[in-house]
Amino acid sequence: MTSTLSPEIAINQAFADDVRRGLTSDPKYLLSRYFYDAAGDKLFQKIMNLPEYYLTWCEFEIFQKHWQNILRQLDGQPFDLVELGAGDGLKTRVLIRQFLAEKADFRYLPIDISRTVLQHLRETLYELWPDLPVTPVEGEYFSALQEIDRLSDRRKLVLFLGSNIGNMSQERAADFLRQLRQKLHPDDLLLVGFDLKKDPAVVLAAYNDSQGVTRDFNLNLLRRINRELGADFDLGAFRHWPTYNPLSGDTKSYLVSEQAQTVHIEALALEIPFRKWEAIDMELSKKYDPPEIEWLAEHAGFEVEQWFFDEKKYFADVLFRAA
Ligand code: AVJ
Repeated sequence: MTSTLSPEIAINQAFADDVRRGLTSDPKYLLSRYFYDAAGDKLFQKIMNLPEYYLTWCEFEIFQKHWQNILRQLDGQPFDLVELGAGDGLKTRVLIRQFLAEKADFRYLPIDISRTVLQHLRETLYELWPDLPVTPVEGEYFSALQEIDRLSDRRKLVLFLGSNIGNMSQERAADFLRQLRQKLHPDDLLLVGFDLKKDPAVVLAAYNDSQGVTRDFNLNLLRRINRELGADFDLGAFRHWPTYNPLSGDTKSYLVSEQAQTVHIEALALEIPFRKWEAIDMELSKKYDPPEIEWLAEHAGFEVEQWFFDEKKYFADVLFRAA
């Protein structure tokens, strides 16, 4: 039998295990963290430029309007600006530019699991500000924070932006923030970007854009499974179906099988049957209201120091202080 797997690709075991677990579960699911291969990174860049995807625009506006209030919280002392999941750092650049103009004494420590992302970020920042001390830290958030703690005795301002926290359920977010709190010292600051509950039509449009980029972003994970695990998903046989629940704030997206079909995954020696209209749970992007955010802070050992909103109150960057 000839293999459809490209021989040059070593199988990512964690990915293979998670795909097996997700597609053999009832109901079926896939983990949205696997959206971000090279093609997924590009599609997410495109999403951030969509008119419907208000999240990026709002956070941009917030930083442009409020950078001074954020900097003021550091009391003119030297600090480390740590960013969890730095990506391309586009929004963070607004803060960095202003902080440098104010001659603030700080270093930038972006944390990311992707070495390519970090290298790219470092080059971009070097071209803009050759004198900015940048220390990229490759790894998982918590081990990276541990390492940073060994390197530094400065006050920290940790950034967790872009509603990345929305990919976790509220309970998991509380757990995550509690663990994060353990890696910080009293008075360290954490700036978290929350997408807020709003007109349901506005939320839904952000995940159901007219150009179909979000659909392709979801389908790209099936494409990735085809490529990396030798599967034969027919991308045309699944429909992108985003939903918004205005009560819970859960924005969820599904891929729905439009016909009864069986998918083969060679690297897993697995056949996955789909009933007609059976769905795969693909992503959660939870939207918050202010009381839920206060609850989160309290349960994780933080005090809410300051709220920053955009004009329309679509989004909030909330400054937490480690209690
Ligand atoms: C990067 C996780 C914040 O949930 O809004 C964008 C990812 N998914 N469109 C989000 C995403 C569909 C995004 N986060």
